[in-house]
Parts: sequence; C-alpha cells; structure tokens
Amino acid sequence: MPSPRIAIGPAPYDPAAADWIVRAVVEGGGTPVTPDEGADALVWLPFGSPDQLRQTLEAEPGVRWVQLPFAGIERVTKLGLVTSERTWTCAKGSYADVVAEHALFLALAGLRRARTRFDATSWGEAAGTTLFDQRVTILGGGGITESLLALLAPFRVEATVVRRRPEPLAGAARTVATEALDEALPGALVVFVALALTPETTGIIGARQLELMDRDAWLVNVARGPHVDTDALVTALAAGQIAGAGLDVTDPEPLPDGHPLWTEPRALITPHTADTADMIRPRLAARIKANVAHFAAGEPLEGLVDSAAGY
Ligand SMILES: NC(=O)c1ccc[n+]([C@@H]2O[C@H](COP(=O)([O-])OP(=O)(O)OC[C@H]3O[C@@H](n4cnc5c(N)ncnc54)[C@H](OP(=O)(O)O)[C@@H]3O)[C@@H](O)[C@H]2O)c1
Repeated sequence: MPSPRIAIGPAPYDPAAADWIVRAVVEGGGTPVTPDEGADALVWLPFGSPDQLRQTLEAEPGVRWVQLPFAGIERVTKLGLVTSERTWTCAKGSYADVVAEHALFLALAGLRRARTRFDATSWGEAAGTTLFDQRVTILGGGGITESLLALLAPFRVEATVVRRRPEPLAGAARTVATEALDEALPGALVVFVALALTPETTGIIGARQLELMDRDAWLVNVARGPHVDTDALVTALAAGQIAGAGLDVTDPEPLPDGHPLWTEPRALITPHTADTADMIRPRLAARIKANVAHFAAGEPLEGLVDSAAGY
C-alpha cells in the first residue's frame, strides 16, 4: 500500500502543540493531511472533544481507522460513535507502566499512613502495615493490571484478578469473572480498580462491596471515578468500615472544593495525574507510530477497541 493519508484532528490545531504527533505519523510511514483532504485514517489529538470527533467523521466518510489518544474511551462510546463500520484503536495499555506505578504509590502511602504522618506536628504512635505476603484483588485484567502485577511481584502478594473474560494472567494467583467479584473482596488488604468504564462497570464498587471489604483494607482507584459510588465511599470511610481510599480519579471530577472527601483523613486524593502530559507524550507517540506502520503494512493494529464491549 502507498503511504497512507493520515488526518490529524481536530483541525485547525496548533502545529507547535501537535508536532510530536505529526512526527509519529511520519515515522510510522504515513502522510499527514488535514481532516478535509480525503484521509484513509484519523489520529485524534488529546484535546479534541467527542463532538468535534463526530463532526470530523461525518465530513470524512473515507476514514477506515480512528486512533484515539486515551485508554478509557467511554466519552466516545457514549455518543454511539464506535461501531464496527470502522476500525477503532485507543491508548489502552500505553500508559500502563506509569499508572501502575501510581497505583502502587497510593497503596503504599495508605498502608504506611502517609496522610497522618506527613500532616503530623508531633511524634505520635507507631503505625503502618506491610504489603509483603498479603492478598490483593485487582479489578480489570488489561494493560495496567499486567504492569501492576509485575510491580507487585517482589512483594510476594497473592493476587486475585477480576475481569470480564476470566483468562489467566501471569503473576496472578487466580483470575475470576466479574460475577465472582463479591467473593474476591473479603481478605484482600488492597483492592485496586483498574478496569474500563462501561455501563456494566459503573458503580461496580458500591455500598455492598465496601461492606464486604476488610476493615483494614484500602481501596485504590486509578481507572475512572464512576466505578465507585462516591456517597457510599464517603459513608464507609466516615464509619471506619475500610482503612482508607487512594483515589486518582473521582466522581464528580474534578472533585469540587468543599467535598467531604477533601477533609476525610482516610482519603488520599491525586487529581487524575497517574499519567501526566509529559508521561503521555512519548507513550502515545509510540502507539501512533506503531499503528501507522501496521496500517500501512495491512497488519493487525495495537490497542484494538471491541465496539460491542465498549472498550
Ligand atoms: N488514572 C489515569 O490517568 C488513567 C490512565 C490510563 C487509563 N485509565 C483507566 O484505566 C482503564 C484501564 O486501562 P488499561 O490500559 O488497563 O485498559 P485495558 O487494557 O483496555 O483493560 C481494560 C480492562 O477492563 C476489563 N473489563 C471491562 N469490562 C469489565 C467487566 N464488566 N468486569 C471486569 N473487568 C472488565 C477488561 O477485561 P478483559 O481483559 O477480560 O477484557 C480489561 O482487562 C482505562 O479504561 C481507563 O479508564 C486511567
């Protein structure tokens, strides 16, 4: 196939802000064009909105493949844009290493009482829990979970993975299907949330699941805020029902000033910074370059979206 014509959208964009994406397309063997120039494929920029994406695709019926810049694509699937008429790829797995790093950071910070200790103005009592030789449960069995299992291996944890298709994963003691979630919660010192947001996984951690968790357990969410019922979490934390929650994502997001989670001593909150723009850039560029090369060669693409499953 001759060099594929790859539109970069939305147009117009600031070339200085998008030059790394243009470079990735060229290095992958593509010819960058603007979305109104008859493209074979569309690479969508991180700052393009789903509404702009819909308009761009309506104006570009020849686009056979769309590359999205995020790992979680629920804002696009909600608009009904992701259908089997085109091939869709996203950044699933691309940011996994740094997001897993952040999940481990939140877990260790919680277990070692970081919030209490770093805010302290006097010596206080000795407290803290080790992660070594403990049981953990991870919701999701994708890129983040694979990276997290590798980071957790030196801690000799016994990991249970809960995923939609219960295929085994290297580093996990067992993998179970979503229906078995409630049985996978008791006994876990840390419950990590690292799965895709779909209608089935919205509110997957609610009052019942928080009740099933141990009193010394930490909940760590690095996926999407709506996976967790925020009101139920606020209640569970205030009641000391679980030891704490490390949250990189919240519902609502951004978490408004004055929200009870800000002053909850058992909550550790980071503002959706598990992957910052500096971390995203090289990882997304690598995905785009690889996929443009695969597209040009007629090979299977990386980060393929299952349009029926919605992730
Ligand atoms: N905090 C951040 O900055 C940040 C950064 C990147 C990603 N994220 C979020 O993290 C999510 C995971 O990222 P990733 O790269 O690991 O994506 P991924 O490779 O697409 O993994 C998604 C996982 O979700 C699982 N899943 C989907 N529906 C499920 C269900 N009903 N029950 C149980 N598991 C289900 C899938 O299970 P199967 O494997 O069985 O299909 C898959 O393992 C993304 O979708 C995104 O929302 C957040």
